[in-house]
Amino acid sequence: MSELQFPKGFLWGAATSAHQIEGSPLADGAGPSNWYRFEHTPGNTAFGETADIACDHYNRWAEDVELMHDLGLNAYRFSVSWSRVFPEGRGPLNRRGLDFYERLVDALLERDITPNVTLYHWDLPAALDDRGGWLNPDVAHWFTDYASAMYRALGDRVPMWATLNEPWVVMDAGYVHGTHAPGHRSHFEAPIVAHNLLRAHGQAVQAFRSEARTGAIGIVVNLEPKVPATDRAEDIAAARRAEAYMNRLFLEPVVHGRYPAELAEIFGEAWPSHSDEDMALIREPLDYIGINYYKRGVTRHDDGAPPVRASLVRQPQNPHTVLGWEWEVYPSALTDVLLWVRQHYGEIPLYITENGSAFYDPPTARDDAVHDPLRVQYLRDHLLAVHAAIEQGVDVRGYFVWSLLDNFEWAAGYGPRFGIVHVDFETQKRTPKTSARYYTEIIRSNGGALAHAGRGS
Ligand code: BGC
Repeated sequence: MSELQFPKGFLWGAATSAHQIEGSPLADGAGPSNWYRFEHTPGNTAFGETADIACDHYNRWAEDVELMHDLGLNAYRFSVSWSRVFPEGRGPLNRRGLDFYERLVDALLERDITPNVTLYHWDLPAALDDRGGWLNPDVAHWFTDYASAMYRALGDRVPMWATLNEPWVVMDAGYVHGTHAPGHRSHFEAPIVAHNLLRAHGQAVQAFRSEARTGAIGIVVNLEPKVPATDRAEDIAAARRAEAYMNRLFLEPVVHGRYPAELAEIFGEAWPSHSDEDMALIREPLDYIGINYYKRGVTRHDDGAPPVRASLVRQPQNPHTVLGWEWEVYPSALTDVLLWVRQHYGEIPLYITENGSAFYDPPTARDDAVHDPLRVQYLRDHLLAVHAAIEQGVDVRGYFVWSLLDNFEWAAGYGPRFGIVHVDFETQKRTPKTSARYYTEIIRSNGGALAHAGRGS
């Protein structure tokens, strides 16, 4: 019944990020972040919601680690809030902020849960934003100083690190479309931001190596296979541009030390030239690539959608999540993504660092249960897609479901619920959903339980 198995030592985890779950953004000497400011500016988030309380994880972390243990997770991916540790982004370290992460890491290790730390998941200290944030070339040094402090504090206990989470979203949502902090809208800024993100990444990896850390360090990118909507040449070209802009913009420099040629065409006069030294820095070898996969993108040519001149085409025949028509559920593209990464970027260990779905779940759990059959199905289908890639020889070493908890979904606020654990935001009560129970069965059987549908489906 269960010859469906994942590799020995496979990491079965869940992922979260600091700003989305912690709450208490200014507690114990922490400084404000760009997201704190953004969500406290009217009009930027759904219903003006903020992450001031979120899942109150800053106070409930011990309970949450117990929960992870009960679910059987053997790994947990979380991020550090830079402005908790360095309230001004640089300068004096805030011991009380760092203590929070020290306690969390120790509690995880006591429970045999491998900590996987992301240094930057979108919350930049506001004091650095005042100095230009990702537009200022000095950000690479600021980030490296912060990263080095974290390596020194936690490097003896944390075996897995990521520099940046989804730099493409930082650039595209933060600086092209203005839907995320800092809310800029300029395709002239975007290439500068992308390059500084990459320089910060490269320099922080270098610092990790120079301190002779034993753990692994990588980068986390969101990949979305771009499929031309028709076989017309202009749609094929649009899909190729979209792929360069979203999927290759960060990986190509990191692995091959060059930007995709299409970017000069996409950005035109806004595309700068880059020095060989910078490209060499960015190419600092990595231990793994983290892939966040949510959806694919069926793409058509669209002159009205700068800078890429490409738009997504709705796929009414397939299911969608509550985030809307652009969030098509398409599990087999996850196999394709993994094969694509191997083909373009070679034999490097891969982790699925995020994959998950927001479906309608009630705000309050009844009878200590939340039945979420669509999420159960999603989990199963996507894990089968990962397994299919492993069978084809792709070196996938772990899977982190997004997310452990329902949380603050950025500009969308608390509406979309991605958790395998339900959070009642009135009472902060946690209730594992049926998908969480199913995940536990999958973990216990190292994938074997995928041979049959989850109880909730
Ligand atoms: C991000 C998460 C986010 C999730 C769902 C990913 O792009 O890393 O922070 O909550 O997608 O939108």
